[in-house]
Amino acid sequence: PYPNRVRLIDVAPRDGLQNEKQPVAAAVKIELVHRLQAAGLREIEVTSYVSPKWVPQMADNHEVMTGITRQPGVRYAVLTPNMKGLEAALADRPDEIVVFGAASETFSQKNINCSIAESIERFAPVVAAALQAGVAVRGAISCALGCPYEGDIAPERVGELARLMKDIGVQRVDIADTIGVGTPLKVQRAFEAALAHYDLDHVSGHFHDTYGQALANTLAALQMGVWNFQSSVAGLGGCPYARGATGNVATEDVVYLLHGLGIDTGIDLDALVDAGAWISAQLGRPTGSRVGRALLAK
Ligand code: HMG
Ligand code: MG
Repeated sequence: PYPNRVRLIDVAPRDGLQNEKQPVAAAVKIELVHRLQAAGLREIEVTSYVSPKWVPQMADNHEVMTGITRQPGVRYAVLTPNMKGLEAALADRPDEIVVFGAASETFSQKNINCSIAESIERFAPVVAAALQAGVAVRGAISCALGCPYEGDIAPERVGELARLMKDIGVQRVDIADTIGVGTPLKVQRAFEAALAHYDLDHVSGHFHDTYGQALANTLAALQMGVWNFQSSVAGLGGCPYARGATGNVATEDVVYLLHGLGIDTGIDLDALVDAGAWISAQLGRPTGSRVGRALLAK
């Protein structure tokens, strides 16, 4: 019932570090990208072209994007909320841009300062210009399984945003559990709603692990044939506009699960664990990856 291979997008340099209170040097972010690609990651979310007043940690986007040594076959993605962000991003040649909307009205307001309908109007020219420039476009559907302000989110609202994104040309969508409240059946209902508009190759799971459900949720999505997932080395992460949200599911933990199921990822788990240990040491804290801790203790 499981896919033979899974593609992981490591979002640590972006989602993982965007909420970090201490300044993290661009050189550290660049080395993190290098370590991830050396471990076999083929998609990396590098940074965001957002307002530095809103998210100061991503203010070094240009320095980071132009500082990385690109490896052939690796796709480098960046977040762009509006035309200003897109224009700055395009100059730095990403392979993919990400527009990020929410299935919750309140979260949309808090995160990008506009309603869902306004966000789609704002994204439409961003998507068109990116595609015109030959850059791929992904859409994140935040709060797909619950909202810090509105609580439960019905699957229909996920389906509705997926439809709106499809209509403006977004090529694939992430079902994002921003605050990690989802459980497996809820995950499957949300994917079913998105799959009315996108096929299995064009949906992915983005699970934060706040409630410890992310691996179970990953398995539930795998059982439906979903084979694209976002995760963050060392379990880094959290959204500044979702209080209490902890990190994304740790890439090490997802890789261990997948390899245990006999699913190919192309990732060298030992090198990945080393990358997780390295960035955790840079941040002065223990790794958030259970697998990382277990393997490092051996
Ligand atoms: P706004 O204040 O409504 O924007 O913010 P504005 O157009 O009125 O502009 C206000 C100021 O920001 C102006 O500067 C603009 O130039 C500047 P001022 O004249 O005051 O000096 N500005 C920009 N600067 C740099 N880059 C830009 C940009 N745009 C405007 N792109 C805006 C609207 C969307 C900009 C703001 O709300 C914002 O930046 N939000 C980003 C929030 C964010 O990054 N959140 C975290 C990422 S989403 C996430 O983590 C969830 C995800 O992981 C999935 C999941 O887990 O759910 C993806
Ligand atoms: Mg996230």
